[in-house]
Amino acid sequence: MHMRVMGNSAPARLLVGLLLTCAIAGCARKDAQPSTPAASVNVIPEPREVTRTEGAFTVTADTKIVANDDPQSAQIVQYFTDLLQRTRGLQLSSADAQSSDDVIEFRLEAGGSAPEAEDYSLVVSPRRVVVSSGSSRGLFHGAVTLWQLLTADPAASKAIAVPAVTIHDSPRFRWRGLMLDSARHYQSPQFVKQFIDWMALHKLNVLHWHLTDDQAWRLEIRKYPKLTQIGAWRVPAGAAAAADIDPATGKPRLYGGFYSQDDVRDIVAYAAQRYITIVPEIETPGHASAAVAAYPQLGVTGKSGPVPADWGIYDTLYNVDDSTFAFLEDVLTEVMELFPGQYIHMGGDEAVKDQWHDSPKVQAQMRKLGIKDEHALQSYFVQRIGRFLAAHDRKLIGWDEILEGGLAPDATVMSWRGLEGAEAAAKAGHDTVLSPWPTLYFDNRQIDDDQPGRGRLITVEDVYRFDPAPASIPVEQRAHILGLQANLWAEHMRSEARVEYMAFPRAAALAEVAWSPAAKIDWPDFEKRLPAQLARYDMLGIRHAPLAVSSDLAQVSATSRTSHQLELCTDKLPLSLEDDAPLTGKRAVFMVDVMEPCWIWRGAQLTGIDAIQASVGQVPFNFQIGKDVNSIPLPPPQTAAGELDVFLDSCAGTRIASMPLAPALGNPEITALPAADIESPGGSHDLCFVFTRRSVDPIWTVDRVQLVGR
Ligand code: ACM
Repeated sequence: MHMRVMGNSAPARLLVGLLLTCAIAGCARKDAQPSTPAASVNVIPEPREVTRTEGAFTVTADTKIVANDDPQSAQIVQYFTDLLQRTRGLQLSSADAQSSDDVIEFRLEAGGSAPEAEDYSLVVSPRRVVVSSGSSRGLFHGAVTLWQLLTADPAASKAIAVPAVTIHDSPRFRWRGLMLDSARHYQSPQFVKQFIDWMALHKLNVLHWHLTDDQAWRLEIRKYPKLTQIGAWRVPAGAAAAADIDPATGKPRLYGGFYSQDDVRDIVAYAAQRYITIVPEIETPGHASAAVAAYPQLGVTGKSGPVPADWGIYDTLYNVDDSTFAFLEDVLTEVMELFPGQYIHMGGDEAVKDQWHDSPKVQAQMRKLGIKDEHALQSYFVQRIGRFLAAHDRKLIGWDEILEGGLAPDATVMSWRGLEGAEAAAKAGHDTVLSPWPTLYFDNRQIDDDQPGRGRLITVEDVYRFDPAPASIPVEQRAHILGLQANLWAEHMRSEARVEYMAFPRAAALAEVAWSPAAKIDWPDFEKRLPAQLARYDMLGIRHAPLAVSSDLAQVSATSRTSHQLELCTDKLPLSLEDDAPLTGKRAVFMVDVMEPCWIWRGAQLTGIDAIQASVGQVPFNFQIGKDVNSIPLPPPQTAAGELDVFLDSCAGTRIASMPLAPALGNPEITALPAADIESPGGSHDLCFVFTRRSVDPIWTVDRVQLVGR
């Protein structure tokens, strides 16, 4: 997302077989062991069918690997041995196929299944491990499962005992995705590859790559070099950015980056070796500001300007001239050369129609085409692109707004505004991917800490409890649910470490819900497997979030509260916010509802208290929210710079303190305001903290408030 301001019901424009049997896999072996059914192994996602047998297989440096003599098998063996070496320090070598004992065998069944088949079997017996599949894709998944078995006990080292087990596995859904927003903040090609690697270790198989938006165009297009020469660079927001002048230009240093076509080919090949499909997104007809900044003739107004740096929803749209469709077709031609997958994402979300509505030229074009309104024009736009893609054997997927005004015949709907889009799509016979706000929006915080992100708390458990077969979609239409996807919108992920922190471990919950059969979804069991998963993350160097808030953060003092420990008065656009300055170093993070900066301290103990002290900060109001900006309350100030007012019992109660903001004016960092004396009523009272101000910018915010006693 780009932006969501109100509750879930707000309208869009306001919303800132088993192909391999036991016999093949080895369980008919003469030395097959008695089995114990219904066992769990420490693997995420939980396999479809797990049967424990007796004994164990011990992997040591002497264990040999055997595999078929084909390039895919060789690649999988290489992948597995590298991973094991990297994470366990065990270097296994290959042996010829005659070896029988102390062997891990990767067996690609001759004349096997279709390339898209994902099922595999894994049989661990005391003398041998056999991973088998009819497809190299399935064999890869089996290798990942085996690696997980070998990392289930982080303490084991030179000899890793794996309890004997027979696993038959296949996924519940074929689309198990994560969306990476590389437009709002840029991640390096090296990072994108690492991220792909980590996805593969979760059996996640679709990387939806958000490559263009208002704030950047990140994909090199040979025919239109300005898309990245101009479109990939923006000023960072905020006062600190304005002060960071690049001596070469005398202007604020620009933030950005892009992916060359060589980068993309390398990333796509890397993903293919991990059986991950990349679905590129080229946003249309809105979120087009960076493209229009590069080529103003693509826009409606003809005005040119720099790539914008605010978050939210701009009203910039592509125009509907034939030359603009020719541009998009040229772009898509290069996109299709680079990305071999079936789906191309064309965006479609949050296209505010004002520019089309206000343009005499667009209105005249609509009349000529017999198009009745702007929604129908968006539908025309999407269908025209959809036909172009279909003519090239590709499929259009878009955010659920593409349903408005009529859907292109083969379009697939990514349902983000809840599940209504998925319901409508499935009912109309279209495929759909479930990606609803807020549960699958991984820009929301995952633990109640003081790290940046959207203010809502979406825990690993919330993600795990997401139902991918909702009752609102009739059983007979559920075949249209291709799967699910979580989105890493990156406005509040300034660094690659932030992306990792927001993605993991929630990606593990997503992976299990998307892969494991419904009957195996079991939170308490998953929770028991999580510590081993976090240990795997540590082995891999993933900078994941912890499972709980650290004890020093969780502890609340009787006399002081940080913005994260206070309650917000409203739930309009709550953010745990650090600004987007370019300067290095740690920044303050504030919990604030940017639509109404107001906090409540529940049950403050005022007995013996005679003053309140506050430290405050300010962040730029860099949110494009259209006319909603007029609904932001501006309590009138008493002094030139405004005040932080404190009210007793409720925000409509008696004002007991008013702290002038003059000392903080112009200081982009935290300012400790002088303490304000209060007449304490004694006892326990709610306190409400509100800033008076004349303008929405800057957003004044509480950093910490403290009660001072005698
Ligand atoms: C979206 O969050 N605007 C798809």
